[in-house]
Amino acid sequence: MDTILVRGGRRLHGKVSISGAKNAALPIMAASLLSDGEVVLSNIPDLDDVSTMCDVLEALGVRVRRAGSRLLFRADNLEENEAPYPLIRKMRASFLVAGPLLARLGAVRIPLPGGCAIGLRPIDLHLKGFMAMGAEIRQDGGVIEAVAPRGLHGARVYLDVPSVGATENILMASCFASGETIIENAAREPEVVDLANFLVRMGADIRGAGTSAIRVTGVSRLSGVAYEIIPDRIEAGTYMIACAIAGGDVFIRNAVPEHIRAIAAKLAEVGVRVIEADGGVRVIADKRPAPTDITTTAYPGFPTDLQPQMMALLSVAAGTSVITETVFEGRFMHVAELKRMGARIRTENQTAIIEGVGELSGARVRVPDLRAGAALVLAGLRAEGETEISDVHHIDRGYESIEAKLRAIGADIERVSDGVSVSRIAQVL
Ligand code: UD1
Repeated sequence: MDTILVRGGRRLHGKVSISGAKNAALPIMAASLLSDGEVVLSNIPDLDDVSTMCDVLEALGVRVRRAGSRLLFRADNLEENEAPYPLIRKMRASFLVAGPLLARLGAVRIPLPGGCAIGLRPIDLHLKGFMAMGAEIRQDGGVIEAVAPRGLHGARVYLDVPSVGATENILMASCFASGETIIENAAREPEVVDLANFLVRMGADIRGAGTSAIRVTGVSRLSGVAYEIIPDRIEAGTYMIACAIAGGDVFIRNAVPEHIRAIAAKLAEVGVRVIEADGGVRVIADKRPAPTDITTTAYPGFPTDLQPQMMALLSVAAGTSVITETVFEGRFMHVAELKRMGARIRTENQTAIIEGVGELSGARVRVPDLRAGAALVLAGLRAEGETEISDVHHIDRGYESIEAKLRAIGADIERVSDGVSVSRIAQVL
């Protein structure tokens, strides 16, 4: 089992390159199921979740090949409409194959998904969309079966909350549906727009992605395409907060300024300078952060996926901050771990009150979920002494080479595998 060791107190300097967005790559990979030609994806991040999605697609009969940093998919011979449980339970995003399979084959059997345990995370809105388009849904022993023997038809689908996954699944399902589908109260995240752009490049007829009403007119086929995934705004935000908590001057290469407005605004509020430049953003942090209040909401609001990292930063602010989490009800599992490092935080339902402390201290902590793991790494950068972080497989689901990237900008961080420092071996090699 790998652990990450961080010795705090180093300021960060230099450039860090942001990888392709996990949350854009996963739905786009799932959407390759809709194509009868070859799909070539570039800027795909090297992550455990991406490997899991490759395994899911292969199990369904997609031929997957790696060519350098690109991934190639051929779905012209789909054999299976049933996704295997051991893969689906590993990652909630694997449920994104449901929409394209239903569209392409008229039937899908898929176990209820797993993933980070950050809330109830139901899939009712995905299913509501499929039903509105004419699918019949049955649930049997934890497996969802959706069938539309005569194909799906266009419909008006209103989402009670602007769910990213439901928007994406319904968008993919509607590509071949007869007539027009309108998704109302759709998610507006850049990853939804990236998926829509990809589908349009394959020949889909989609308007309004990035607004809360997406209109899709069904087409009869989608062809192969070469496509480049957008940079990961959550990874970019994580390195911005890393600089803010450790102090320093870091250029975040490839960050798209338009995608990171909410985090840039909050960092500015706490006294960090964020400068938009050609090809990325520069972050300069030279004083203790001021406190601030944050409420997470759907895009373009403050992203829930940066809430734990921001809590780490505010735990050393000069005053008291309040964070309200409105997207996921179970997303404060990092609080107990941050408290082990000396943070003063109390929670009441969906609200956390963070009283800034002068110093955090290194401790043994355990990663409860992906973004909480990033928060603990960031807290370790600021803490006095050594922080030993276990269960880092959660971090590997969503961050490519996190310790190598942080080391390159001056952090004292290493990965230890079965008692041996992997980072030092990598350096020698
Ligand atoms: C995606 C992201 C995840 C991010 C989240 C919110 C991917 C692979 N993951 O997850 O990193 O934290 O968006 O930005 O893109 N909901 C329902 N019914 C449903 C679906 C969702 O009530 O059928 C609720 C959820 O419980 C949650 C809220 O809607 O409270 C938002 O969830 P959703 O946007 O669907 O998140 P995911 O797509 O799972």
